[in-house]
Amino acid sequence: MIRTIEWTDSGVVMLDQRLLPAEEVYRTCKDYREVAEAIRSMVIRGAPAIGIAAAMGVALGVQHSSAQSLKELDREFHDICECISSTRPTAVNLFWAVDRVKSVYRETRNEGIEAVREALIREAGEMHRQDIAANRQMGCFGRELIPDNARVLTHCNAGALATAGYGTALGVIRAAVEAGKQIQVYADETRPFLQGARLTAWELQKDGIPVTVITDNMAGYFMYKGMIDCVIVGADRIAANGDTANKIGTYSAAVLANENKIPFFVAAPVSTIDFGIPDGAHVTIEERAAEEVRSIHGIPITPENAVVANPAFDITPERFISAIITDRGIARPPFRESLRALATNGAGSP
Ligand code: MRU
Repeated sequence: MIRTIEWTDSGVVMLDQRLLPAEEVYRTCKDYREVAEAIRSMVIRGAPAIGIAAAMGVALGVQHSSAQSLKELDREFHDICECISSTRPTAVNLFWAVDRVKSVYRETRNEGIEAVREALIREAGEMHRQDIAANRQMGCFGRELIPDNARVLTHCNAGALATAGYGTALGVIRAAVEAGKQIQVYADETRPFLQGARLTAWELQKDGIPVTVITDNMAGYFMYKGMIDCVIVGADRIAANGDTANKIGTYSAAVLANENKIPFFVAAPVSTIDFGIPDGAHVTIEERAAEEVRSIHGIPITPENAVVANPAFDITPERFISAIITDRGIARPPFRESLRALATNGAGSP
């Protein structure tokens, strides 16, 4: 099993995803600022994994607090939450996780700092466990949508590495394979950070699931040739109407799938749905460092100081999405109604 992130007595341990697949190095973050830096620099990435790292980061911050009074603790807690929240703006799971630990803090602060410490560590552990359970649940719902012998295209990495384990989009693929289906995965390379080539291919190879890596600009060719049966991706934030923010390039894959009449599925836990925004236009898209585009592993691929753009995410309009697979069931268009119904009542039909 892939250990993406773990709480240990010596700190928060993460598999450094910048170095995969060449090296499997675990890093121990010993204070909350190191956790914040690990999220920012993408030692850990993927919306659900970022959420868990955020909760563990806050717990670590409070564990090392030297506050002498409740007032001091309040101030420190606020600074810790601000620091963690400022790391990456797009994945809603980060803010959802910080809100969750904030309410635990409010409920326990009057019992004293020891009680707060224990409650925050417990909550972060609970989120870790719940994430794996949610992914398994998504797998159970979503596997029904994947036909036997399907050739499935995925973009970025929405696997065990992007979550506490098992994965969202890759969780659905894993569940289909566990149900006895033969699945061939096509993994978009996912420039510039190469989550598909480096991480998705690594995970699937480890599980013995057949995977073919293609560069991002090949997806249309394979669809046109009739070699893709469905597309499945994860999500960083889903607006109330179903518009989905996910890794840059997801929109292109959705448009191509639509043009070629191929079902396009999104898999994400309900914690990725942001009912506070009506549509995708309200999502803040992270702009990352130019260097990520100018070089690969330190080797320049553009003229020095070439002007580049590096938006890390894009928005796929809901009209291109055939279904959203959640841990509460499957939502179908119109998503404004179906997502709300799932979040309130659960259990949508395959
Ligand atoms: O920049 P990243 O690697 O954090 O972006 C990750 C993605 O876009 C994933 O597809 C998304 O978070 C879903 S992960 C289960």
